[in-house]
Amino acid sequence: MELIDQIDRSNIPEHIAIIMDGNGRWAKKQGKPRVFGHKNGVKAVREVTEGCAELGINYLTLYAFSTENWNRPKIEVTALMTLLVETIKSEVKTLNKNNIRLETIGNTEALPEKSKKALRNAIAETKDNTGLCLILALNYSAKWDIMQAVKSIAQKVEDQSLHADSITESDFESALSTKNIPDPELLIRTSGESRISNFLLWEIAYAELFFTSVLWPDFTKEHLAKAILDFQNRERRFGKTSEQVQ
Ligand code: IPE
Ligand code: IPE
Ligand code: MG
Repeated sequence: MELIDQIDRSNIPEHIAIIMDGNGRWAKKQGKPRVFGHKNGVKAVREVTEGCAELGINYLTLYAFSTENWNRPKIEVTALMTLLVETIKSEVKTLNKNNIRLETIGNTEALPEKSKKALRNAIAETKDNTGLCLILALNYSAKWDIMQAVKSIAQKVEDQSLHADSITESDFESALSTKNIPDPELLIRTSGESRISNFLLWEIAYAELFFTSVLWPDFTKEHLAKAILDFQNRERRFGKTSEQVQ
């Protein structure tokens, strides 16, 4: 039996977040430039998006470009932005066919004009789809998101529309770029690194973490199934005792 068929359909995470890492090393192993790895990473994005849609997962967040990634060589940053525009344009049809809605988190205002335009169009063209919500984290950093949320709340306090004493978790969450998106229950990182790299710091407070050594371009539906099966075998205690949650 394939791994995917072993998944308990009654205990599927509502939201999976993925740190897609290892494109550069994948290319290097074959003596190819890093950009070759990014191009092949797009195949894994397609594969995993399709897998999540088939499993009935509601939200999939993919870390596509971090704020820190601007520090890479200019040639790589430009190639990543071009790849983003090309991929988004060519995938809109497939997204619509599969009832997938596209959204973004992060400081997308600071992206190049061409990227912003492609994103705006794809978001508008898929906005009525009711299946999987695919969220691309672009120019995203969790600290940036927390800071902009703090500033918008501070502004409300300054305007006297909010009292400092009465600020709730939910007020804070409504100011994050992840507002209206449930927290991920499962966070996957590929390429063997065991770190979070400034991704969803607030939202993963109780996520199950799954690290795999598979490099992103090699990641398939079967690997996704393996991560979900691992998730299903964990006991999520949320501070309680094992006896309390059984
Ligand atoms: C992930 O792969 C893609 C992005 C960060 C955009 P990397 O490019 O980080 O690949 P490695 O980590 O250098 O192998
Ligand atoms: C994290 O990967 C960002 C994305 C996957 C977009 P990096 O490869 O940039 O992470 P670090 O810098 O090695 O932690
Ligand atoms: Mg990396």
